[in-house]
Parts: sequence; C-alpha cells; structure tokens
Amino acid sequence: MAQSFTNFKDAESQLLASLYGKADLNFVSGKGSYLEDASGKRYLDFVSGIAVNALGHCHPSIQKAIAEQAEKFMHISNLYPNKPQIDFAEKLLAASGFDKAFFCNSGTEANEGAIKFARKYFNRKGLIEKQRIVTFVNSFHGRTFAALSATGQPALREGFGPMPGEFEHVVWNDTNALCKAVNESTCAIMLEPLAAEGGVMTISEEMVKTINELREKFNCLVIADEVQTGVGRLGTFLGSSKYGLNVDIVSLAKAVGGGLPLGVVLMRSHVAEMLKPGDHGTTFGGNPLACAAGLAVVNEVLSSGFLESVLERSEELKAGLAKLAEKYSFLGNVHGDGLLLGIETEKPVAELIASARENGLLVHRAGANVLRLLPPLNVSKEEVKEALSILDKACSLVS
Ligand SMILES: Cc1ncc(COP(=O)(O)O)c(C=O)c1O
Repeated sequence: MAQSFTNFKDAESQLLASLYGKADLNFVSGKGSYLEDASGKRYLDFVSGIAVNALGHCHPSIQKAIAEQAEKFMHISNLYPNKPQIDFAEKLLAASGFDKAFFCNSGTEANEGAIKFARKYFNRKGLIEKQRIVTFVNSFHGRTFAALSATGQPALREGFGPMPGEFEHVVWNDTNALCKAVNESTCAIMLEPLAAEGGVMTISEEMVKTINELREKFNCLVIADEVQTGVGRLGTFLGSSKYGLNVDIVSLAKAVGGGLPLGVVLMRSHVAEMLKPGDHGTTFGGNPLACAAGLAVVNEVLSSGFLESVLERSEELKAGLAKLAEKYSFLGNVHGDGLLLGIETEKPVAELIASARENGLLVHRAGANVLRLLPPLNVSKEEVKEALSILDKACSLVS
C-alpha cells in the first residue's frame, strides 16, 4: 500500500513507470522562491518546475484566480464559447502582437499544433510540396511524435520509430548549414530563440538575419518554440521579438499556465486564415481553470517594472556566476539571457547539482556539462545573493 511509504522516491519506484531519474526529496509545500521538505528543510528553488513557476510557488494572484474560477465551472469543452479563454486570449494577443491563439495542454502539444498549422497553411494554398521542417541539432521540442522528430537529439527517438518524415536538423548558429538546408520545399524553420536544453546557447545576430532572409527568399514560415523562453523568461514577453526574429507561429507552455497544464499556439492572421473547424482540436485545450491561472500570470508579468527587474536580476546572477568562474577553474563560460542562464562545468554536472541541493539550492542541467539556473521571474535581489553563496559553497565542496 502506498500509504505505508514514508519516502516518496521509494513509493514512486513501486507505483510509477520508471521514466524519470528523480532526486530523493520529499517536498510538502512551497512559497515564493522556496520549497520545503517533510523534515522542514527549505530549498531555494532555482529550477521553478523547469521554468514553469514564473511567479514562484503559491502566488496569491494565481491562487485567487483558480479559486474564483473553480466556484463557477472547471470544464465545459470546446463545444461552447468559454469566457476565461476569451479574456486570456485577448491579453496574450495584446502582449505578443500576434493575431490568433489556439489553446492546448503542454509544450509538446503546442509544437504538434504549430507543425500541423504550418503544413496545413501551405497545403491549403496548393503548395503541397512545402512540407519540410528545418530545426536544429540539440534542440528540444517535446516527446510526442512530430515534436520528437523536430527535436535535434537522435537518442531520444531511439526505439520509437518509424518517425514522421521531412524533418532536418542543422547545427545551431551555423548559417551556412542553414542556407544549404532551406529551399523551395521548406515549410518552416523551427527554433527555440535560445537553445535551452541544448546547453543554454544564445542565437547569433547573423543567424537571426539569415533566418529572416530565408523566410522571405523561400516563402517559408518561422515557428518559434517559446515553451521555455516565453512569458518574460528573457526579460521581454517573447524571446523571438527581443532578438528581432520574424515569426509566423509561436508555441508557449510551461510558465503560461501558472503551474496548471496549458499550451498555446499564437499565429499571424495569414496562418489562421488557412485553418478551418475540424482541422485540429483537443478536449482540455483552454481549460477554464488553466486560462484563469494564465491570465493572472500574464497580468503580473506585464505589470509595471516586472520585466525590468527580470533583467536586473539577470545581470546580478550573470556577474555572480562569472565571479565563481574566476574562483573555480572547473567552471567555464556563462551562457544565456534573462533568467535562463547556464555555466559550463568540467566537474560532472550531477555532482554539482547534488552538492547545491545538499546545501539548500535547487538547480538543473542543460546538455552534458552546463549547470542551468531558472529562478522564478520575481526572484529578489537577496535570493539571487543567497543562491550565489550556496553555489559558491557547493563548488568549494566538489573542488
Ligand atoms: C523548448 C521546449 N519545447 C518543448 C518542450 C516540451 O514541453 P512539455 O514537456 O510541456 O511537453 C520543452 C520542455 O522542456 C521545451 O523546453
């Protein structure tokens, strides 16, 4: 019986398919930037549910929005118009400058939608040869079939074939390779504005220019996967607009639902005009509770001074990481932007993560040798200092 377990990890290993390598921690509650375990130990959470908890844990605006909507109804399906969807879509479109939204439930599902919409767009225009999707080596777009085909990590596809075809991966920031890959048969170039899982690698200005030029030259679409970068993570509402990418379709998830499962596809009107009822859909998409929570998140992110403070905390964190890299020779370059930052380590990244965790700081990895930091977007100056001091201690213990 599960009730007899006192250790969550042991319980899960008996009860759940073993698809995750979970840490041995028994969290029971969270508030702001901290999580607390069953023994009362507090952890500064610089993982934020892998970039989900943009406002930290149990933010009162999100709690209030969910509680108020739960008093009304929690689900009515997409057979009927849904006021929380309307309010949320209006806010998202105003914030992003896009024209239409489609709601779903996760990042991978948003990317499935984005890919389907891009293909349908050209199909309806009679350009049926335009099916090819060009993405990037080491990218991550999700675990369902098309998103997995788009993902530039062959190991994740192993044993799951056959995969959907017409996906090609080119090396990140290699403009020559991209120019070779894109042609008249290209439907879309799909990219994360900042390659998060692939090592927290920023995009070069040359790459942005090349993508914009290829979009014009070959009449293809650009899909920005902003599942991790969107909703303020880089200090602007969308990362793609920060970098000057001309984008037709954006996928969002993670932070956009305030901790509830929610994915969004934002699109320009030329894409939306090619879609018809029945082309795509999902039962839970635009769930009223998730939309109410999402509206609360976006209202906070767009509130006065919020995004400026993301950039200020980012500078403090980057400077602190650079100092640590001077102090510890096994640390290398600091990567990233906004509050999606990474630092290279020659020591096994798992050791460093474990040492930080022992000392009360949760951090994550990206790729083989990058320690990734994803604090809540409303993290305080003091919490940034605290994280850096714990990381300093963690580094001294592994060196
Ligand atoms: C850039 C990016 N795209 C897509 C996904 C997949 O999102 P989900 O896990 O919600 O399906 C992730 C998840 O980490 C991601 O970082």
